[in-house]
Amino acid sequence: MAKIRVIFENGDPERVIEFDPADAPLQHDGQPGSILDVLLGNRVHLEHACGGNCACTTCHVIVKSGFNNLSESSEQEEDLLDKAPGLTPTSRLACQAVIEDPASEIVVVIPRYTINQISEGGAKPEP
Ligand code: FES
Repeated sequence: MAKIRVIFENGDPERVIEFDPADAPLQHDGQPGSILDVLLGNRVHLEHACGGNCACTTCHVIVKSGFNNLSESSEQEEDLLDKAPGLTPTSRLACQAVIEDPASEIVVVIPRYTINQISEGGAKPEP
């Protein structure tokens, strides 16, 4: 089983999600097996204004651990990331970063400005 630990920069409780990449897609937005796919499929809301089609930056996440366990980013993703607020060297678009290895352990931070509304845990949208 692969594992994603999700840290919310706004202080919401962490989530640890275990999943089998072979089960992807878990829902219909983003690349099958992407961070976005796994989060949405486990009822962790992440903004994805373009529907996971690599056409916005609302699904920006920062990968704290396991960066090399993700699929390589495309030129289009890199171009979009250049416009993302708070870009870091390990930033990815969650809809494009696919976890392929079932032994992967990934830690991602959802930046405060990425969080709009968390559907679970009762968090309120950022002002
Ligand atoms: S949801 Fe738009 S780029 Fe990921």
